[in-house]
Amino acid sequence: MTATAVDKNEGTGGVVTEAARRRTFAVISHPDAGKSTLTEALALHAAAITSAGAVHGKGERRGVTSDWMEMEQARGISITSAALRIEYDDCVLNLLDTPGHADFSEDTYRVLAAVDCAIMLLDSAKGLEAQTLKLFDVCRNRRTPVITFVNKWDRPGREPLELLDEIEQRIGLRPTPLNWPVGIAGDFRGLVDRATGGYTKFHRTPGGATRAQEEHLTREQAAEVEQQAWADTVDELDLIEEIGANYDEASFRSGHSTPVLFGAALPNFGVGALLDTLVRLAPAPADQPDAKGGTREIGSPFSGQVFKMQANMDKAHRDRMAFVRVCSGQFERGMVLTHAATGRPFATKYSQAVFGSERSTIDTAYPGDVIALVNAQALRVGDTLYEGPKVEFPPIPSFAPENFMVARAKDSGRYKQFRRGIEQLDSEGVVQVLVSDVRGEQAPVLAAVGPLQFDVVKHRMEQEFNAPIELSTLDYNVARRTTPESAPKIHGLSGAEVLTRRQDSELLALIHNKWRLRVIERDHPDLVLEALLAGGVEEES
Ligand code: G4P
Repeated sequence: MTATAVDKNEGTGGVVTEAARRRTFAVISHPDAGKSTLTEALALHAAAITSAGAVHGKGERRGVTSDWMEMEQARGISITSAALRIEYDDCVLNLLDTPGHADFSEDTYRVLAAVDCAIMLLDSAKGLEAQTLKLFDVCRNRRTPVITFVNKWDRPGREPLELLDEIEQRIGLRPTPLNWPVGIAGDFRGLVDRATGGYTKFHRTPGGATRAQEEHLTREQAAEVEQQAWADTVDELDLIEEIGANYDEASFRSGHSTPVLFGAALPNFGVGALLDTLVRLAPAPADQPDAKGGTREIGSPFSGQVFKMQANMDKAHRDRMAFVRVCSGQFERGMVLTHAATGRPFATKYSQAVFGSERSTIDTAYPGDVIALVNAQALRVGDTLYEGPKVEFPPIPSFAPENFMVARAKDSGRYKQFRRGIEQLDSEGVVQVLVSDVRGEQAPVLAAVGPLQFDVVKHRMEQEFNAPIELSTLDYNVARRTTPESAPKIHGLSGAEVLTRRQDSELLALIHNKWRLRVIERDHPDLVLEALLAGGVEEES
């Protein structure tokens, strides 16, 4: 810690110390790999440890909220995202929930923009799957450190060495196992900690409802109890030692290597090791670069960035909630902040911590924490709120849409509601809204990465805005940024059209597919057709 940081720390009630206790992370995985099970297991394990006094020596058992799934199911689609706060080993772990459906939405990118670390969760039988690869790409481009957890080791699966090889070969991330399973997948006996050589044997508890019972054995005892399974593990560990796959902080922090842990979330095997790893290795919140090339230091007065907007989470109250990650300073409920985009004051009387349908009032928050601000009509994704010296964080990059639909009100008499609804969903970033003089305001084009977003729009337009819509597919799947000079020329080409993105007035050329794009680029090299950013990922052309 630098001298100035120490001074600031004292001056701001321990902000730097509090920030150092935070770990803000998300789980990236393919549906069914066990994200919900792991989330619950992490919370349960931490709560059990805390209540058992193993770490704090006191403290009551904290409630484990798991009903967010219920809400997702009730709404048919996963459209919630918030932070689960887990206290463990004198640390505060903020687990940001990423939407759980198979589709890919901008929400997922935004959540990943708000974390300092990601857990890449793999199913031991399946290894790297499509959705995991996409999400990993976002992490890679943001240089987010990734910890890998190989799940479902209690079920038949692949060889551990084969899985490590797949990680290295397919995504170029160097795996550095921290522990190693004893017993093949499906006959999971326990884990060897590579650093200490200690063996933890697991005993199942029925249904994994509570923390698995653990038995700590010496190498000699392990050899005696596990026999051949132990001998196989020793051989594999020798091999790993030879290739030098040891944890390396610099390459982990820069996103070039990944510590790997094995386990099974359902029966709660290896979950404690994952928590310990998060505490020990995951980076704490750091100073944030601002939009002007400067830095907002952790210990400076409060600043935070909106990474997600959500309307009507609570059916009883028509509200609009902004999820803000604290970037610097201490947040206290009731503070009046400045909204950087407008310069207007923003009152924070109604700040909450939200996870699924569970809400609690939040009074204080520190860097890395997530606060939900109610009645946030004026805020948009990417906006900065601050106290003290002005700061604005760089915008969260919007993504390259691949699906386009024209929306029309079913009942033309409800045009006012239709317009209001489309505007609202646009400002929340549920979809991007594109308009053109040719198409008119009555028939805006909706753009999304994953087609499931259109179901969300349809549902919400009907339920919340009382303006049912019809959607018709547009035969485009590529979008490129263009200029006022190129736009009229593109309009004349077949399989292409130019529209304006309402949020930022950016001109987007929509093109039938990437082969058509190649032909246009070849025949008209003078046209400007820039690839769009996707969560910091430069799209492949
Ligand atoms: P997701 O959120 O990533 O989509 O996955 P989820 O946790 O829902 O888990 C998907 C399925 O995998 C669930 O079974 C869950 O019980 C199972 N599972 C998760 N972790 C483990 C593990 O470590 N070992 C084993 N054996 N199974 C695991 P399901 O049958 O689809 O659902 P359910 O009926 O059990 O709820």
